This record gives sequence, C-alpha cells and structure tokens, in this order.
Amino acid sequence: MSKVDILLGLQWGDEGKGKVVDVLTPNYDVIARFQGGPNAGHSLEFNNIKHVLHTIPSGVFHPGCINVIGNGVVIDPIIFAQEIHSLEKLGVNLRRTLKISKKAHLILPSHRELDAASEAAKGKGKIGSTLKGIGPTYMDKTGRNGIRVGDILAHDFQERYQFLKNKHKEILRQYNYQSNIEQHEEEWFKGVELMKEYDLIDSEYEINKYIAQGKRVLAEGAQGSLLDIDFGSYPFVTSSNTICAGACTGLGIAPGKVGEVYGIFKAYCTRVGSGPFPTELDNEVGEKIRQIGAEYGATTGRPRRCGWLDLVALRYAIMLNGVTQLIMTKPDVLDTFETIKVAVAYRINGAETDRLPYDINAPIEPVYKEFKGWMREISGFKSDDDLPDELMAYIQFVEQETGVPIKIVSVGPNRDETIVRE
Ligand code: IMP
Repeated sequence: MSKVDILLGLQWGDEGKGKVVDVLTPNYDVIARFQGGPNAGHSLEFNNIKHVLHTIPSGVFHPGCINVIGNGVVIDPIIFAQEIHSLEKLGVNLRRTLKISKKAHLILPSHRELDAASEAAKGKGKIGSTLKGIGPTYMDKTGRNGIRVGDILAHDFQERYQFLKNKHKEILRQYNYQSNIEQHEEEWFKGVELMKEYDLIDSEYEINKYIAQGKRVLAEGAQGSLLDIDFGSYPFVTSSNTICAGACTGLGIAPGKVGEVYGIFKAYCTRVGSGPFPTELDNEVGEKIRQIGAEYGATTGRPRRCGWLDLVALRYAIMLNGVTQLIMTKPDVLDTFETIKVAVAYRINGAETDRLPYDINAPIEPVYKEFKGWMREISGFKSDDDLPDELMAYIQFVEQETGVPIKIVSVGPNRDETIVRE
C-alpha cells in the first residue's frame, strides 16, 4: 500500500508546477490532475522546446508514466484534441498511458460563451477569468445539469447536448449576448470522438487500485491555493477547490491516503486577473520582475501582476494544505535586485495582523522585512553549498517563518537547473 503525494501551488497560480512535476515524475508511476481545466497552463521544456499543457497531466514526457485526468477536472474536447495533436507532432503517443475519468465534466462551446457574457455583464467588477468556460461548467456540475465524459458513450448523448445547449442559449438571450455556439460545434464533436479513443475509466477505482498495488501516485494541482473557491479572495477566485482537500474529492482518495504535500511557491508573487494582491508592485520594480521572469500568462498571454513574497498569504496556504515540503522557484529572477523585500505581516487600519482579512477591500499595508540581494547569477549552481549567503539567508528565513523545510530550489526553467537540498 502506498500513499498519494500531492503537489500544489501556494500562491495565485503560475508557481512553476509544470516544471517541478516534470522533475519529480521519475519518482512516480502515475500523475493525476484533480481539478481545474484548460484555464491552467503548465509549461514544460522538452528537448529545448517550451511546451504548455492545459488539460493533460505533466507526466506525458516520461515514457511509461500513467497520466490520469480525474473526476474533479473539467475538459474542453476542442482544447483536449489540440493538445493531443501537438503532443503527437513531438512524437508523444498517449493512447496507452492517458486515462480519463468518466465522471469529469465537459466544457461545452456554450459554457465558454456564458463565461464571456457573465464577465462582460460584471463590467469593472470582472474576475479576469481566462474565459475557458470553467465557472459555468462547475456551475452546471453543482447545479446537477452537467454532461460528463462517460455520457459521450450514451445513445442519447446528442439529445443531452442539445438540451443543455438550448438552456444556455436562453440564459445568453437574457444577457443579450450575441452567441456563436454553432461555429465551434463541429470541432467540439471531433474532439469528443477523439476522446472515445482513450481509456475512459472510473478513476477512483483505478487510483485506489494503484495505491493498493504500491504504485507511486502524484496528484498535480492547477491554479493556486489563493484562487481556491472557498479560501481565496472570493469572488476573485477560480471555481474549484485548488487546495489539498480538492485532491481527495477530485480523485476519490481518502484523506488518510495522502502522503507528502509538496507546496510550491515563487521567490516573489504574481497574480493574473483581478482581486486583492497586498504586495503588488505597480511600478518599475514590478516591471523589472515581469520582464526578467517573463511573467505573462501561459494560457492567455496577459501580463501578470508582480510583487514581493507575501508570508502572511504563504503561511495561510501552508496551513490549509498541510504542506510537508516546500519548493521554491525562480529566485534567479531576483539575481540583479540589490534589495529584496518580504511581507511578514499586514497593517490594517493601524493594527498589525498575521491573518488574511475577510474583507477583500480592507486597506492592507504590508509590513516588510528587507534582505540584501545576492547580485550574481545562480542558474548554474547545483547544490546548497554553491548558493550565495544572501540567498541562503532568504531561504532560511522563509523556513523559519513557515516551519516547513524548502527541499527543492529551482534556479532555471530546465530540468537540470534544480537543486535538491538535503
Ligand atoms: P477562471 O478560472 O478562468 O474563471 O479564472 C478565475 C481567476 O483565476 C482569474 O483571475 C484567472 O486569471 C485566474 N486563473 C485561472 N487559472 C489560472 C492559472 O492556471 N494560473 C493563474 N491564474 C489562473
């Protein structure tokens, strides 16, 4: 009997999960996605080509590794097909190794339109959604209207599709939204046909079978803990549980079967879309981070908002997830910064606190601790002993403040630019 290890982002997504899963994959037999959908963009470097995955788990470049799309995921057949075709061009054939839960929900072309209509209606209060139809699909799931992957095999699939589409058209009419659904239907149904060529499974049974067989399973989170539907800065969140508990419901594993929880965070913070971001640097320092860190959305290309590391938020995410090991990414982006700041507390209306406030409009003033920058290139470094003292001071401070060891430091985008610490 083995346990399921979970890897998830502790900030607002884009922490570098794709690369880290790719580095960890040789230790695992199975990689499973448990929530989210094509709003995610997991970037991997393969044979020096940057590749972005949206729906398919990040174990695809390791031959023999089984990749599971769990019941908690929402799938757009159009994007699924595009991903499969671009992987095939790279010579990656997933026919035998990719398995899809029959209980995962489908994103219809009309869900995407509903997303766009809902955002447009929100005006200034818009979420900044990736507009992939994520919110409306999860709404249909919890509203018990959704269409699941297993339904594509049903004799009345067409009717179910038309029924839901017509319902959506009614809503779109109320929004006064010019709809374009039919234009995407042919491609959507082609994607559905392609999905039928893959192993459609009861993933909860399969995952529990793998555990019983002693296979090593890694659950791969998408987005980040601060975008969690329950614990993020609601309503500026995504529509799924991005925290550790989401792996239990999104794969069908009992809490007692969770092993290590790897929490991944960037040495600074970024956020795409709207919502509070206490340590945001809306100035030339933030711009410098964006340029050096290439902080543009992997899914939408939008510039990411950039800011200093926020320990109040990080400690919150660690608490929610029960993180056992930390992974720090992209400290190399800070190589040329003379001073680096970290928020250790918030000041709200004159009072200091170490908690995230309920009120997302609360006027938060971060209380910073300053660190001296290391002012040299670190990407070639292979071990702790090589790392500059200033960076070690930064790492040790985070460990001391969070009470969790930083086991991996990623110092560049490639697999070999990774320091595994003793
Ligand atoms: P949605 O999930 O596409 O509706 O987007 C909701 C919010 O989550 C928006 O602020 C998005 O920018 C953000 N978001 C969704 N997916 C990701 C991701 O994979 N990385 C970073 N932000 C994301």
